[in-house]
Amino acid sequence: MGNPLKVGVLASGNGSNLQAIIDGRERGELDAEVVCVITNRADAYALVRARNHGIPAIYLNHREFSGREAYDAATVEVLKTHGVELVVLAGFMRIITRVLLDAFPQAVMNIHPALLPAFPGLDAQKQALEHGTKLTGCTVHFVDEGTDTGPIIIQAAVPILADDTVETLSRRIHLQEHRIYPQAIQLFAEGRLTVVGRRVLVTGPHAPEESSLVNPAA
Ligand code: GAR
Repeated sequence: MGNPLKVGVLASGNGSNLQAIIDGRERGELDAEVVCVITNRADAYALVRARNHGIPAIYLNHREFSGREAYDAATVEVLKTHGVELVVLAGFMRIITRVLLDAFPQAVMNIHPALLPAFPGLDAQKQALEHGTKLTGCTVHFVDEGTDTGPIIIQAAVPILADDTVETLSRRIHLQEHRIYPQAIQLFAEGRLTVVGRRVLVTGPHAPEESSLVNPAA
């Protein structure tokens, strides 16, 4: 096996997806390692998680920059300093600019708690509940200039149950996020993702042709 893919994680909050990636690496399941974590919030628990595992953790305060481009330029500088090859947004609640995208072409991923293109933007779980869909889930996608619009890499479907609240639904979506984000990173590390227009071609096994998730149960 060659050198592990160098991943830089951008997070704003709890960082449970960051933890799932770190744990996947520590279990030997990922040909990728987190080499730095950047947050835009001083109190992001993601900083603590990173430091607990000896990973450089950097807080970049957006108030110290003149605008989004300047903030992203500083972010790129930190990422490049650490030799990052793939940028992973894990609950990073800032709009990113061309400055970051141009520095890492086809190499910025995001996770969103809905089956895109349904329910982009904020409060995706609440949007799905209020709309009354029977299935929602999570999506890992490459980032483009839009909000949650980039080419889709992998999705997991989660049923919405009769007594679900935003909290119970979010908890079950999170469990699936923790499965598919490491999986997407591993696919990238193995060179198995090719972006063709809006589609991401993935080499290797897919879900069985006849498989489906029906809710309420068939
Ligand atoms: C995750 O549910 C992720 O899908 C969501 O933020 C949460 C972060 O959780 N991201 C977005 O809503 C982006 N639009 P975490 O900090 O525990 O990884």
